[in-house]
Amino acid sequence: MRIYLIGLTILSSLTRATHLTSDYLDKVYDVMKQISTQSWENGTEAEAILQYKYPQYSVFSSSNPFPSSLSQGDFQDVFNIAQVTLNNRPSANNASANTTSASLLKDGAAGDPASLGISVLLANVSSGNAQVKGVGYGTAAEEELNYLLNDVPKSSSGAISHRADQVQLWSDSISMVPPFLAYYGAVHNNQSLLQLAYTQCALYRDVLRQDSGLWAHIVMGTGASDPGLWLTGNGWAAMGMIRVLNTIRWSGFSNSMTSQVSDLQSWVSEILTASQGYMTKDGLLRNYIDQSSSFEETAGSALIAAVALRMSTMGLTNQYASQGIQLLSAVSAKVNSSGYLTQVVNPYDWSQTATQSPEGQSFVIMAYSAYNEWISQGQQGDSDKNPLGNDSGALGGISRQYMGFVGFLTAVCAGVWTAL
Ligand SMILES: *[C@@H]1O[C@H](CO)[C@@H](O)[C@H](O)[C@H]1NC(C)=O
Ligand SMILES: *[C@@H]1O[C@H](CO)[C@@H](O)[C@H](O)[C@H]1NC(C)=O
Ligand SMILES: *[C@@H]1O[C@H](CO)[C@@H](O)[C@H](O)[C@H]1NC(C)=O
Ligand SMILES: *[C@@H]1O[C@H](CO)[C@@H](O)[C@H](O)[C@H]1NC(C)=O
Ligand SMILES: *[C@@H]1O[C@H](CO)[C@@H](O)[C@H](O)[C@H]1NC(C)=O
Ligand SMILES: *[C@@H]1O[C@H](CO)[C@@H](O)[C@H](O)[C@H]1NC(C)=O
Ligand SMILES: *[C@@H]1O[C@H](CO)[C@@H](O)[C@H](O)[C@H]1NC(C)=O
Repeated sequence: MRIYLIGLTILSSLTRATHLTSDYLDKVYDVMKQISTQSWENGTEAEAILQYKYPQYSVFSSSNPFPSSLSQGDFQDVFNIAQVTLNNRPSANNASANTTSASLLKDGAAGDPASLGISVLLANVSSGNAQVKGVGYGTAAEEELNYLLNDVPKSSSGAISHRADQVQLWSDSISMVPPFLAYYGAVHNNQSLLQLAYTQCALYRDVLRQDSGLWAHIVMGTGASDPGLWLTGNGWAAMGMIRVLNTIRWSGFSNSMTSQVSDLQSWVSEILTASQGYMTKDGLLRNYIDQSSSFEETAGSALIAAVALRMSTMGLTNQYASQGIQLLSAVSAKVNSSGYLTQVVNPYDWSQTATQSPEGQSFVIMAYSAYNEWISQGQQGDSDKNPLGNDSGALGGISRQYMGFVGFLTAVCAGVWTAL
């Protein structure tokens, strides 16, 4: 009897595995669109939409993702974001100003507006450098590139600062800046930009990587400082690097940049491998990965899940697939029936929880985009027939852990019964 009661207690604390149906994901998608407002949130949203809704134009595509022509309807939801961005672009770039470099958006973070650069480049392809408020999409992208190259402060080693007013390195920057540099290089056949994207990942890693292989969040400079191993920051770093890796592979320089690709793969693996040791019994990771007192956090867990599954879909390795599934299952159970991801870190104060997270919504969409691809490829690395279970959302159903536990409990009870 006592064993039975203990069993029930453990059982009720187990995470339920769930699978978000496409109707459910539509809600997540709509909430993402509604609540994304900051530059990096819009950029991350645009990337999530590309991966999920227009996967042929994402660098995770299984064929060349760089279109030579495009109509707006081919990628409407991303085009809209590029258009909003150009409408919000500061008009300091006025007729009398003769600048060839300018940030896409006014932002104390030098790196964040670059997250929108790929959408703006695609809008340029679809519009032939059509102008918004007197500036063409292509011109805006080119000026954003020049801004990063020429105006943003750099560390002594050459790392492009994440902040505009001082040199400060944030792990976040790896998802904002290098993927844009690499993409620009790929579509303009410019190997030095692809190389620069790689070098930026290397320089950031040199400073942020800790002995465990996990990355610190914010170092150098004054003001904000966060030497902790922030989960979302590790996700930003890993996702940024795997995007650069795939951009290089699709570029015209893949044959001459194989060592860069293999470095990037090992740097992504390093983060995933180190995080594996910190998976909680609920199938999540903590907000500060190595701190046992830190809360289990779903946004960063979703981003890590996306990267883990992409490692498999891109044919790099299947060794993280099960971890990805475990994370995505637990994350899915935290999506409420209105489509909000819950139990998220506050994106504006990394030590606190919040009731919603714009970037978290995008991470769920990225993770399901990876998951759908992984399923269609025959779920390499984890052949469970129904890995996430069938139910939707927070009220979802019985997990395989649960089923496994019921089996275990039955065995224990049977054992006790027999002993008695
Ligand atoms: C982000 O997108 C939203 C919704 O379209 C828009 O209202 C907002 O101004 C955008 N933010 C920036 C910084 O461009
Ligand atoms: C126009 O550009 C000039 C030169 O950069 C600058 O001094 C001026 O403030 C700008 N004007 C506006 C209205 O943005
Ligand atoms: C504007 O910049 C271009 C390129 O740097 C230069 O050739 C041109 O003379 C400049 N025009 C004016 C009016 O300063
Ligand atoms: C923008 O499009 C024009 C016209 O297709 C092209 O010539 C230009 O290179 C593009 N600009 C960028 C930055 O890709
Ligand atoms: C590559 O891009 C950089 C930065 O815009 C530029 O300085 C360089 O001339 C370009 N190289 C080639 C080969 O186009
Ligand atoms: C889902 O979460 C959001 C954000 O926390 C909240 O506003 C909403 O009421 C929740 N929906 C339900 C059905 O609990
Ligand atoms: C659960 O999902 C699997 C795979 O998507 C499907 O084959 C199966 O029929 C579903 N079962 C139920 C009861 O809906």
